[in-house]
Amino acid sequence: MNLFTVLTRRKSITQLQAESDQSSYGFQRTLGLWQLIAVGIGAIIGVGIFVLAGQQAAVNAGPGVVFSFMIAGLGSGCAALSYAEFSSMIPLTGSTYTYSYAVLGELLAWIIGWDLLLEYSLIVAVVAIGWSGYMQVLITQLTGLELPIALQGAWNPTDPESGKVFNLIAAFITLTVSGLLILKTTWGMRVNSFIVSLKLIGVLLVILIGFFYIDPANWQPFIPPNIEDNQSIPHFGWSGVFSAASIVFFACFGYDTLTTAAEESEYPKQDLPKAVLLSLAISIALYLAVSLVLTGIVPYSELDNDAPVDAAFKALNLQWVRGVINIAAIAGMTSVLFAFLLGAARIWFALARDGLLPSWFAKIHPHYKTPYRPTLILGIFTALAAGFLPIEQVAALVNIGTLSAFIVICSAVLILRIRHPELPRAFKMPMIWIIAPVGVLFSLFLIIGWPWKVEGHLVLLSGLPIAILWRFILWMGIGLLVYFSYGIHHSFLNKK
Ligand code: ALA
Repeated sequence: MNLFTVLTRRKSITQLQAESDQSSYGFQRTLGLWQLIAVGIGAIIGVGIFVLAGQQAAVNAGPGVVFSFMIAGLGSGCAALSYAEFSSMIPLTGSTYTYSYAVLGELLAWIIGWDLLLEYSLIVAVVAIGWSGYMQVLITQLTGLELPIALQGAWNPTDPESGKVFNLIAAFITLTVSGLLILKTTWGMRVNSFIVSLKLIGVLLVILIGFFYIDPANWQPFIPPNIEDNQSIPHFGWSGVFSAASIVFFACFGYDTLTTAAEESEYPKQDLPKAVLLSLAISIALYLAVSLVLTGIVPYSELDNDAPVDAAFKALNLQWVRGVINIAAIAGMTSVLFAFLLGAARIWFALARDGLLPSWFAKIHPHYKTPYRPTLILGIFTALAAGFLPIEQVAALVNIGTLSAFIVICSAVLILRIRHPELPRAFKMPMIWIIAPVGVLFSLFLIIGWPWKVEGHLVLLSGLPIAILWRFILWMGIGLLVYFSYGIHHSFLNKK
């Protein structure tokens, strides 16, 4: 076999279906469309709206953050349509990695699996940091107590004198979630529906109560003028709106973890695509409303803190609303933590099961029947990241990872249409020749940035710092090393 044939060897769709039957935990197919939508919203609405929206309004976009959500939502929408088409064809657990293995071949599948491993784990870290911010506010609100400053958050180079060292609560929640997932991977649809309802109540409270406190003066100017400060990175103005879009993009994914519910869905081919699209559409609609309300009730500059939604309602002195919103935010972010830690463990498990990583990782716990080794290692790794890293940096790294996955998924859907137009698809992406390439270009733009003039020079402007891009490239380089020194030789397709 020549190298090209090896790198592009693919799993057949029948093979994937057979694997799904084997690896099924014996779930019953009980989930209807609305429950699937709840799973989607459970993973989508989280830190993005509760933390990043306010912070980005304060530092990058002002009330114009609503436009940032529109831009990010549009990009994510293209990828969502691709996921919808895939999930209507191959309704299997495993997300982009599985799809890529069937369409693009082993090397690209590995690259995407390796990418998702980093991305999903770091999402857990980001969400844990957000969770910690709201938990600290709630503890103080209820008891008046505060953690010692050193344990309130990570050291941040942008604020070196803060005295913060380690985010204790973020590390704690990550380890707790990983412990719970080792005991049981499914915490039940009822628990999820309850958490999602609580989260939606919180979001709706923000919108409905906040609406009456909007002071249109806070929206003036809607997009504050451009500032070029000593970092020579412009913020505010349309450039700031675009930069903020690269960050609040974090709020616009999560539906990709919906495939974890594929094996429990009653009519996966029909319902999964609908659930992907509807959960994203509902979330974006709520985001637009929340960002308008938040920037309408307080001056946007007051939103630059760890729990911006709380800060806005604190300024209004609405104590009970604050309490409910904080509990809802914490509950809401918890469902995101579960979705992504489970997603990361499943991807690691799948890579090991396919022979691309040592099979030691694919061992199922004899008693709990869960992939406990990846779950534990991921728990420890993400706890360290959540404890020691500042939120913006981790979020930026995550976004590069997700955007790369979106580039692959939008390309894969198009390639599969060309290569296998005959395969039955319960959902077909409309205008695929336009939307799929737009999805690729959009994701590229959000990573690389837009050309912008700074002090007379044309620079590429993105919310994603160049240093983070290098870290991502380093991670992918390590991935290639692992593949060429291990995976390529031990892949199960090799043995076949
Ligand atoms: N979209 C998810 C969030 O905002 C990851 O937390």
